[in-house]
Amino acid sequence: MNDGSLFDIRGQSAVVTGAANGIGRAMAEILLANGADVTMVDIDDAVVALAREHDGRSGKARGVVADVTDTAELGEVMAQAHAWQGRLDIVCANAGKGSGAGPLHPAGELAAVSPEEWSGIVNLNLTSVFHTIQLAAKYMRPQKSGRIIVTSSVAGLRGETMVGYAYAATKAATANLVRQSAVELSRHNVLINAIAPGPIRTDIGNGRLREAEVERAFAARTPLGRIGEPEEIKGVTLLLASAASSYITGTVIPVDGGCNACG
Ligand SMILES: NC(=O)c1ccc[n+]([C@@H]2O[C@H](COP(=O)([O-])OP(=O)(O)OC[C@H]3O[C@@H](n4cnc5c(N)ncnc54)[C@H](O)[C@@H]3O)[C@@H](O)[C@H]2O)c1
Repeated sequence: MNDGSLFDIRGQSAVVTGAANGIGRAMAEILLANGADVTMVDIDDAVVALAREHDGRSGKARGVVADVTDTAELGEVMAQAHAWQGRLDIVCANAGKGSGAGPLHPAGELAAVSPEEWSGIVNLNLTSVFHTIQLAAKYMRPQKSGRIIVTSSVAGLRGETMVGYAYAATKAATANLVRQSAVELSRHNVLINAIAPGPIRTDIGNGRLREAEVERAFAARTPLGRIGEPEEIKGVTLLLASAASSYITGTVIPVDGGCNACG
């Protein structure tokens, strides 16, 4: 393989969920900047103007307002994305949200977690990711090629006092969902991996990570001594979307300033 083409994704057709903000926006931007055509999906209608802003800078962008927890809506979005270019090469199952306080805070203790809160997070952070993988596989298997990238979390790799029960449990489940589906999809040349971000400065948790005290607490537990920026997810996204990762599947790659190295 010519080294110049290792990261070449020009003309590929991609979908990114949760693309209006934070990590998903950064993922969409790096795919677009490298010439992929990207369907940016979000429940936040800002995604439409954002896609218009990015359209044609390198790849083409289209913004679609949809709720990924609505299975019919998600199916329609994926069908349209596939029809747009006649193929589907890269799918980032990224949309997700936090589940409030961690287990050392009274509001985050076992007894405080309501059934509605639990199932809402499971629906978004786990079930919608499963459906996104299922739909991606539906289009990628017949092509005999494709890349699926799931946004898990370092909070899914070990216990984490700073996040809620449902968040920690669903992020752990997505990591194993990736391992499990890699076994099946490998036979069809579809590669699936997860990114496990550490604390990244986004609006997650209603902007909790933007509070100075919370940021300091996360930074103190991170070997690199700071929280990360969404931009810092771009490199691994391009790696996992391109030929550069042709022998990588079923893995979970931390992008966490070293958090996972020290427990
Ligand atoms: N920021 C962090 O520290 C961090 C760490 C580890 C993992 N993550 C994960 O990264 C992913 C992105 O989070 P973020 O930090 O960028 O947060 P964010 O709030 O900035 O972005 C999440 C995006 O998902 C969208 N979204 C939420 N529910 C949706 C739905 N039902 N349908 C469609 N879109 C929906 C939101 O509108 C938003 O644009 C999540 O899965 C999150 O769990 C974040």
